[in-house]
Amino acid sequence: MSIFTFERAHFLGNVRYVDTRRVSVHVSLDEDLRKARVGQLVVLSLPGAAEQWLVGLVDKVMKVPVIEEAASEGSGEAVTPLLGESALNTVRVTLVGTVALGPDNSPKFSRSLVQVPEIDGRCHILTDQQLQTFMGMLSNAGNTEHSLELGRYTIDESAKAFLDGDKLFQRHASLLGSTGSGKSWTVAAILEHAARLPSANLIVFDLHGEYRSLSFARHLRVPGPEDLGKTDPSLLFLPYWLLNAEELQAMFIDRSEFSAHNQVMAFQDAVVAEKKATLTALKKTEVLAAFTLDSPVPFKLSAVIAELERQDREMVPGATKDKQGPFFGQFSRLILRLNSKVSDKRYGFLYHGYDVEGPYDAMSSMVERLMGFSKDGPRIKIIDFSEVPADILPVIVGLVARIIYQVQFWTKRDQRHPLALVCDEAHLYLPKREGLDPVEQRALESFEKIAKEGRKYGVSLLVVSQRPSDVSSTILSQCNNIIALRLTNADDQATVKHLMPETLEGLMESLPILDIGEALVVGDAVLLPTRIRIHPPAEKPLSATIDFWTEWGKEAAQPDFAASVENMRRQHRT
Ligand SMILES: Nc1ncnc2c1ncn2[C@@H]1O[C@H](COP(=O)(O)OP(=O)(O)O)[C@@H](O)[C@H]1O
Ligand SMILES: [Mg+2]
Repeated sequence: MSIFTFERAHFLGNVRYVDTRRVSVHVSLDEDLRKARVGQLVVLSLPGAAEQWLVGLVDKVMKVPVIEEAASEGSGEAVTPLLGESALNTVRVTLVGTVALGPDNSPKFSRSLVQVPEIDGRCHILTDQQLQTFMGMLSNAGNTEHSLELGRYTIDESAKAFLDGDKLFQRHASLLGSTGSGKSWTVAAILEHAARLPSANLIVFDLHGEYRSLSFARHLRVPGPEDLGKTDPSLLFLPYWLLNAEELQAMFIDRSEFSAHNQVMAFQDAVVAEKKATLTALKKTEVLAAFTLDSPVPFKLSAVIAELERQDREMVPGATKDKQGPFFGQFSRLILRLNSKVSDKRYGFLYHGYDVEGPYDAMSSMVERLMGFSKDGPRIKIIDFSEVPADILPVIVGLVARIIYQVQFWTKRDQRHPLALVCDEAHLYLPKREGLDPVEQRALESFEKIAKEGRKYGVSLLVVSQRPSDVSSTILSQCNNIIALRLTNADDQATVKHLMPETLEGLMESLPILDIGEALVVGDAVLLPTRIRIHPPAEKPLSATIDFWTEWGKEAAQPDFAASVENMRRQHRT
């Protein structure tokens, strides 16, 4: 029995023009042309081979301009093309793969193109039974041990759409779509599937606390002012000594000050001295021999400030009387900045929570909570960054990513377990390069390193954003699979089009008209670049959007504004 049996009703036209992946089909009857729709699948017969078919996606449908039809009147002939394909009833098709009998004699779809179609070869539309046969083939081929069932194909909702979970994470992926297009739900759906695997390891950067509701995950939260002093294991304090030299400088040094260079030098020297003091006290001789300014070794920031204060006021013996020391007055503003940051409760997660005396081992227990996975415990970790002030958000997210990457790097090869970082709202901390302040620059560098080298050490990125045109193109271009949800903004569409193979231009035209929860999935994780309707997750993320009008429509009690004002003064919400 033949794989496909086509009838006249399926016939579209004949091949007129062949490029490597592009084919133009000449359609002689207007009624046949009406069968063709952009995004639809077609099948082209191959010369000689009875059971080999090429499959293509309709990219463009063009009808003869009326003027030329009139011009050809009287000649008695069908329309004569004047200037190539544009003057004919033409359907442009992008070839996507081949259907052929496999070794077990059952039909298989593969993305390779064994042959090009011959001129005048027949082209049929895939509908009804033939479409179901084909989609069944796709689902079967996609349904392997490492498949992730994401949803159903839009062109045939009876067919399950699988992604290859290995390929999706192997070379980074991006999930792009306008606000409200369904990104967070898609993330939740992917997490839900991953959570069923016994040793899954995904870490989600949750910027708005949207994923707080997912019951299968371990929840960590960067503490806000209300949480300082608490010892809840779900609180993720990120002590300042985890910051490397560049991150510390980005936070404290103002490059525009004339003494910036001296500030950096004195600050670094004091930090090294204090780190050394910690290591000496703990008798960590091996670490002492190898540590650098960047090593995550606890130190007393108060001692660093005291040292800077000393130098800032230092008097040295002069010829006749004491004169001002070499740095006299140069560090006053730095000290002011340090002190105001340390006492600002919004930055409390950096400066409180850990005492300097005992935290040496605290880092490993923190890493355990971040990166650990166990068969019985949660394997999906969600870090809530919603309390982190926006001005330092990039450094803090970048810091967590860097620690994870470095720990993975320093883990013995045979113990290394692959993990994925899900970067929601990536435009907030992975911005384009132009005009970045040092704080943003640091975060970007951490992630760019992961994008470029993470694969070697089993660290994958899933970059999620509503503003792809604002996200670092270095990072986006490293993402081999793209899940594109509805995108309405023209700049964002252009960015996504730029990331996709050129042959899929036609498909990209549907970006602004996709339904909510509907995505174009392109990359090596899918067999067919096409529209997929994503299954809603069983557990829904919380919506980050406040329904103003609805809230205004309800009865509500007045907040205690006097208390709010007092909270503001003492930096503590009660
Ligand atoms: N796969 C889906 N199926 C059906 N509805 C969805 C789907 N994904 C999202 N939605 C709807 O769209 C709303 C916004 O989705 P959300 O994931 O929060 O968008 P985004 O994160 O892109 O802003 C959801 O509250 C839900 O009502
Ligand atoms: Mg969202």
